[in-house]
Amino acid sequence: MSNPSILILAGDGIGPEVMGEVKKIINWYGDKRDLSFDVSEDLVGGCAYDKHGTPLHDDTMAKAQEVDAVLLGAVGGPQYDDLDFSVKPERGLLRLRKEMDLYSNLRPAQCFDALADFSSLKKDVVAGLDIMIVRELTSGIYFGEPRGIFEEGNERVGINTQRYTESEIERVARSAFELARRRGNKVCSMEKANVMESGILWREVVQRVHDTEYQDVELSHMYADAGAMQLCRWPKQFDVIVTDNLFGDLLSDAAAMLTGSLGMLPSASLGAPMENGRPKALYEPVHGSAPDIAGQGKANPIACILSFAMALRYSFDQGAEADRLEAAVEKVLADGVRTADLLADEGVTPVSTSEMGDKIIAALDASL
Ligand code: IPM
Ligand code: MG
Repeated sequence: MSNPSILILAGDGIGPEVMGEVKKIINWYGDKRDLSFDVSEDLVGGCAYDKHGTPLHDDTMAKAQEVDAVLLGAVGGPQYDDLDFSVKPERGLLRLRKEMDLYSNLRPAQCFDALADFSSLKKDVVAGLDIMIVRELTSGIYFGEPRGIFEEGNERVGINTQRYTESEIERVARSAFELARRRGNKVCSMEKANVMESGILWREVVQRVHDTEYQDVELSHMYADAGAMQLCRWPKQFDVIVTDNLFGDLLSDAAAMLTGSLGMLPSASLGAPMENGRPKALYEPVHGSAPDIAGQGKANPIACILSFAMALRYSFDQGAEADRLEAAVEKVLADGVRTADLLADEGVTPVSTSEMGDKIIAALDASL
């Protein structure tokens, strides 16, 4: 049987640096666990624009459709700020999500014990926090038509459209309920059914999917603004949160920050199963391209490494190896190893991006 295939799209800014550490880890699995991958690499974002005049070349898009998993670093940078909207680096990422139909975006917000002091919230509010935000990723206001900037009388009007079909809501709801069954068995669905028709439909459909297929899972509904408030007040009340594309974008940033670990959080974007039974999948850190520190060896590679752990779990049926990698990361943090973004304690010297990768590999070695 051929090895599972991975397409690496390291992208811009710190993307290539943090992805460099993931490549070391991929090699470690080949050498030490007899788990080899066929890895290819290509461009996305600003670097693709520089070479091809588009943030995602058609050939790259075609490759992404073929592989078992895409690993993405980050896209964007100030040098691309003035580009036309249609070729901005972010459009490359949005095209991947849309054309691969990656409708279910898993964003865990987990508080590492060693980092609980970093949260802007009190330690007892966040210690042990482990929630999963499931964000709908291929529809809603990000993609709805009509959209654009139009002339209307003697002024312009900017238009975006929030639009959800029942089947789009159903499939992401199922994904949330399935995940909940493997975790704390609770789903909280968030929308604004008090002001938006799309929210009314969202609530109704999530409830129906629950009542017909997932009665064993505890379901609650919350308006998304109240959800944001509850996330800050007592986040441990949540297990799985399911929400739309835009609310999910906002709520996942808030949730990430309250773990104190923005540089640490991974994500998985999953689509429908392919012929081989694996979901179409793209894995990426939640953080951005951090152009201010790019190229200096300062970036924290952990979010990208944990994204690979999610790939092991969701694309490659290697849950035990994902556990091993996550435990190695926790071990290194518990030992006090810190990249510059994690430095609170005085007197601790930060390690570089590649030193952090090496420490994690040493912890992997020690796990054997
Ligand atoms: C995210 C990002 C993207 C989004 C941007 C880069 C297009 O904020 O993945 O959360 O808005 O979805
Ligand atoms: Mg975002």
